Amino acid sequence: MAKKSVVLGVCGGIAAYKALDVVSRLVKQNIEVDVIMTNSATKFVTPLSFQSLSANEVVVDMFNEPKYWEIQHISLAKKADLMVIVPATANVIGKVANGIADDMLSTTIMATKAPVIFAPAMNTNMYENPIVQNNIEKLKSFGYDFIEPCSGRLACGDTGRGKLEDTEVITECILSRLNENKDLKGKKVLVTAGPTIAKLDPVRFITNRSTGKMGYAIAEEARDRGANVVLVSGPTSLKKPYGVNIINVNTNEEMLNVVLENFHDSDIVIKSAAVADYKPKNYSNKKIKKGEGDLNIVFERDSDILKTLGDNKSNQILVGFAAESNDLLENAKEKLKRKNLDYIVANDITSNDTGFATDDNKVTIIGEDKSIVSLEKMCKKSVARELFNIINNKKR
Ligand code: CTP
Repeated sequence: MAKKSVVLGVCGGIAAYKALDVVSRLVKQNIEVDVIMTNSATKFVTPLSFQSLSANEVVVDMFNEPKYWEIQHISLAKKADLMVIVPATANVIGKVANGIADDMLSTTIMATKAPVIFAPAMNTNMYENPIVQNNIEKLKSFGYDFIEPCSGRLACGDTGRGKLEDTEVITECILSRLNENKDLKGKKVLVTAGPTIAKLDPVRFITNRSTGKMGYAIAEEARDRGANVVLVSGPTSLKKPYGVNIINVNTNEEMLNVVLENFHDSDIVIKSAAVADYKPKNYSNKKIKKGEGDLNIVFERDSDILKTLGDNKSNQILVGFAAESNDLLENAKEKLKRKNLDYIVANDITSNDTGFATDDNKVTIIGEDKSIVSLEKMCKKSVARELFNIINNKKR
């Protein structure tokens, strides 16, 4: 498959160095990156750095070389599947909004038919200046996209909005835009991820080893395919995915409530969370003090959220996970039936390089129609892709 092409415009701002990380991340995803720098950008970072990372010649404004000017701004404009400006200064935003094309970058932006995304970064007062805001609104009305800057401490020492969005988020946004498969457009996908906790006293709780990586990958894949995604997440250390409606919960009960609120209008529900089956029978309002001898804690059963959904489902496609240490397929099939699921994703948690806390997973996807697909070991995002391929291929 031909590589996707991103033309990355870099403007003169202190955040220019962060664009290096975006290039590096895109190249790792097998994306062809061509960088255009403004003259001011080269005062902050050298073209050589971008050239080394992208393995492509970097184009800088070269008024003294009009031959290249003519050729390159058109060829890159045509080559681009997507153009992204990181960081976008007030200057470039103002120029494009007002039809000024006086350097390589603004000319290429003007000449391309590819989607263009601006990721602004500048001083807060500049960003909030009504002229800049007006220009942004104008560009949005013409279909240009923006990755809004965040708030934080800026290079000038001020604190406020104007900080370049995290490079990981910018990369995610780019990858999502490049994904042409939008077969989940118009669908609501509800995903649960991570562990839940069962509280013992104000300082202690019981939980499990789930990191949420599988569920987050599912949510991101659904988002990339155009779905409206609600991600109900137990406590994890993962970054909030871009473009996903995330609801954070702690306990089984909290997860149950949020899931039930979102269940009726969901099209696909994927429960990858590792939900605690038991909770301490008695929660102690005060910290439990140590005493002589053993401590016995009595646990009582908590809700089986997935089974509750299975018992109440109408048209939703319901997918569960089965993390097993033995008799993988038998146990998974039994859960599929007992919880009235459409699919179950079975994974063997005894392997060290797949399952909990790893980037890869090796799963078997079993359907209620008795279909069985055993996947090779692959990254969790690819598992998510295969899962949606299977769900979407099934005629209902
Ligand atoms: N699940 C759930 N609520 C629970 C326990 C599990 O919704 N209280 C869901 C999980 O999100 C997963 C599926 O049920 O999609 C299977 O989870 P798993 O822990 O493998 O199975 P259990 O039903 O808890 O059975 P067991 O612990 O006996 O293996």
